[in-house]
Amino acid sequence: SNEQFCYAETGSSPPGCCISLSSSKILIKGGTVVNAHHQEVADVYVDNGLIVEVKPNIKVSDDVTVIDATGKFVMPGGIDPHTHLAMEFMGTETIDDFFSGQAAALAGGTTMHIDFVIPVNGSLSLGYEAYVEKAKKACMDYGFHMAITKWDEKVASEMDIMVKEKGVNSFKFFLAYKGSLMINDELLLEGLKKCKSLGALAMVHAENGDAVFEGQKRMIELGITGPEGHALSRPPVLEAEATARAIRLAGFVNTPLYVVHVMSIDAMEEVARARKSGQRVVGEPVVSGLVLDDSGLWDPDFNVAAKYVMSPPIRATGHGKGLQAALSMGTLQLVGTDHCTFNSTQKAFGMHDFRKIPNGVNGIEERMHLVWDTMVASGQISVTDYVRLTSTECARIFNIYPKKGAILPGSDADIIILNPNSSFEITSRSHHSRSDTNVYEGRIGKGKVEVTIAGGRIVWENNELKVELGSGKFIKTPPFSYLFEGLDKSDASYISSLRAPVKRFNDNPSYNSQQ
Ligand code: URP
Ligand code: ZN
Ligand code: ZN
Ligand code: ZN
Repeated sequence: SNEQFCYAETGSSPPGCCISLSSSKILIKGGTVVNAHHQEVADVYVDNGLIVEVKPNIKVSDDVTVIDATGKFVMPGGIDPHTHLAMEFMGTETIDDFFSGQAAALAGGTTMHIDFVIPVNGSLSLGYEAYVEKAKKACMDYGFHMAITKWDEKVASEMDIMVKEKGVNSFKFFLAYKGSLMINDELLLEGLKKCKSLGALAMVHAENGDAVFEGQKRMIELGITGPEGHALSRPPVLEAEATARAIRLAGFVNTPLYVVHVMSIDAMEEVARARKSGQRVVGEPVVSGLVLDDSGLWDPDFNVAAKYVMSPPIRATGHGKGLQAALSMGTLQLVGTDHCTFNSTQKAFGMHDFRKIPNGVNGIEERMHLVWDTMVASGQISVTDYVRLTSTECARIFNIYPKKGAILPGSDADIIILNPNSSFEITSRSHHSRSDTNVYEGRIGKGKVEVTIAGGRIVWENNELKVELGSGKFIKTPPFSYLFEGLDKSDASYISSLRAPVKRFNDNPSYNSQQ
């Protein structure tokens, strides 16, 4: 990394660096302030961690730090709905923990993330305690989702505690990773019912894990042991099948569903179809799926190819463009990263067998920039849409809006200043992740986050991070978000829809082409 990290509390800062943390009073002058609903040229006044005022020509006293944002966009800090920091997975642990991963996030304009707590031997409370411990290093705000990996009365009652006492309002079900995180349909149904009763959002990793297992066996039998075997063993059809199945089961239970990392057009179309029919389904593409294609997996250099291994796999050319279009049309609603980094030493565990390559790619630092470059700079979405997709919609879905996701008086002072005209190159030499590789290596694009303010403090400015170990706060996410509004009413009409008129075979013109 080129820049210095300044560890304000550990005393390891270089002399003269971070002598005092920035003043708690900040005035951002003359920028275009963008919210999901509106944009205007205005000043933003921050005091004591909160946004106090948003209007033109705010006058302040001398003790206020003034930042000139003329010609730039002043926006809510990014919220990444999907990360794995310090996650124990596939026999190792992600190289980015709550400190390095969050420092990287802040350098890229993301000021909050929601990480997935993994239960310990199925126990939610043990998993929760473990993640509370990991997150003591936090230097920015964060929330928790929680995975459900087994089912019994204890798990069910722990879900109550998580929602009612611990501030967790979302649970992830893995339909893949057979033998470790995967659950079956019976458990998924129990989980969906429980989520519905708690007003918690069910999230799903949608790939058919049994079929993936079969696909992997086939590849090994064919002698395909390299990283390309990973993609070949779990094609889009297996993602589409699991997406469709999870959507239908959520529809059967009549509870909202959030599909994480939608990686293929096939899966996206299942989300589109459900939304068209009125079902409450959220689809989350991740940056890797939007901007990369699978060609890297065929790189003759194992170290290059292995870094692209994630699940579901990065797809063939065309899927990314399709997902971008779905995002711009509103079929998909927000962008995550699935930041889950392993360095080349860890990736090399699978040198002779792709099944042993730890799954995951980086993105927490690159998301804000890449979504800008790919979606806004290319003319596919507006700047207000950008704020919605990178911040506001996440805050709404996880029920923390407008504390997060808005530049409004009273909102947390998590703010970025983005220069739309500044281009730069992504490289592992300058990124802030601890990984020695970057799946976006060499990409040059527009839209640089020049200033990040988190919790009312300037933490990123002039390419320098000033992050404070332990300064990040856990943000409780309350249940019954807007996705649950009116659901009790639709339960009644749902019961009657179960006895919908039979659609006769002969009524479908496509079966009557012979006449
Ligand atoms: O490859 C991935 N996606 N690793 C992280 C775990 C998950 O499935 O989200
Ligand atoms: Zn410094
Ligand atoms: Zn997943
Ligand atoms: Zn993930």
